[in-house]
Amino acid sequence: MDKIAIRGGIPLHGDIKISGAKNAALPLMATCLLTDKPLHLVNVPKLSDIASMSELLSQLGVVVELETSPEHQTMHLCAKDLSSTTAAYDVVRKMRASVLVLGPLVARAGEAHVSLPGGCAIGTRPIDLHLKGLEALGAEITLKEGYVHAYASKGLRGATFTFPMVSVTGTENLMMAATLAKGQTRLINVAREPEVTDLAHCLNAMGAKISGMGTDSLVIEGVNQLNGTTHQVIADRIEVGTYAMAAALTGGKVRLKGARLDLVPTAASLLLQAGVSLEDEGDALLVKAPLTGLQGVDVMTEPFPGFATDLQAQWMALMSVAEGASMITETIFENRFMHVPELCRMGANITVHGSSALVRGVKGLKGAPVMATDLRASVSLVLAGLVAEGETIVSRVYHLDRGYERVEEKLRACGADIRRVR
Ligand code: EPZ
Repeated sequence: MDKIAIRGGIPLHGDIKISGAKNAALPLMATCLLTDKPLHLVNVPKLSDIASMSELLSQLGVVVELETSPEHQTMHLCAKDLSSTTAAYDVVRKMRASVLVLGPLVARAGEAHVSLPGGCAIGTRPIDLHLKGLEALGAEITLKEGYVHAYASKGLRGATFTFPMVSVTGTENLMMAATLAKGQTRLINVAREPEVTDLAHCLNAMGAKISGMGTDSLVIEGVNQLNGTTHQVIADRIEVGTYAMAAALTGGKVRLKGARLDLVPTAASLLLQAGVSLEDEGDALLVKAPLTGLQGVDVMTEPFPGFATDLQAQWMALMSVAEGASMITETIFENRFMHVPELCRMGANITVHGSSALVRGVKGLKGAPVMATDLRASVSLVLAGLVAEGETIVSRVYHLDRGYERVEEKLRACGADIRRVR
């Protein structure tokens, strides 16, 4: 069943509970490797990427147990005895975030053998910064037959490392490794995504000594060992942005439970400029579509707190039916416009020039069979289907299942006509 059918034109009305963030849960799961004590993660989303990371950790000898209820999932992880330090190609190629075991394994076990992830649909996505940073911490790195072999038999030592460009998982890998290094590590020009801050809070609860969270530099005082802890995974800001745009696109009114405005500062400001109403209710965000038409607003993707690249495709779907035009510039990845031809099949008017796409708003979209190419592109096609006249069939929705928990259930609860088909 890898297709979703949507009949558009129904304004969304109701509540959507925001899940725990995939991009927080993945590095949080990897932190279990840093200690032999149990780590408990609350509010872990039910996603295929989470299952892939669980599979990888189990292959390394981690005991992973899940407590699941309809609304919640708590994960218990314990890396008391590691049986392997190898992350094999067949797992890593499925999910690039597998690279997040590299830093913790080198720090805990003194070695790691991790397959190079290879590129993906949105870009080549090298990991050279992860490797240069680990070398700065004293690891010896060699590349052989598609694998990274990292050694630090005498342990890692604190150092200063400046990222030449902001890297989210690069920051996370080095921050985790530095918690067990001897001495002080300073990481400069780090990512400030909320998921990085959430990871730092969890590590500090485990006994790490990290300061500077939310700024562009982190200072980590190495410690001899870390303990376990219980940590609540932060809400998924990409879900917040995605469902806020769905409400705006369909002319509806949706309460996003668990959403926080500070997670989407730039997206919120742009939604307000487009005419969308956002009411912060403390533990929820009430989103109301404009009474008149959506206004076209330009956007440029940037590292946090800038507009998230993971919301770019969704913004494009929104702007495709706005009044006026929107220039959308993608500065993070080199090939993240694969949703453009699919949106154009539905009647959108979009022209791509290099890393920018000019979207000229049209009166309406028409349903059509379309194909998902990557995680965020797939959800932009679902959004377009929600507003298009007639039926849209989105194929290859396994991309969607990687990052959106129960997406059709959440949308159907707000009145959408959406279902899985063979
Ligand atoms: C994280 O990927 C997210 N994934 C991505 O989300 C997100 O799009 C991206 O950050 C940007 O916000 C997870 O957190 C698991 P980067 P990451 O390293 O860390 C270049 C999704 O949809 N770069 O911040 O891999 C890189 O090519 C996914 O949930 C190097 O050149 O992204 C890119 O152009 C997609 N060398 C830029 O930096 C390196 O060693 C930013 O990449 C590392 C990165």
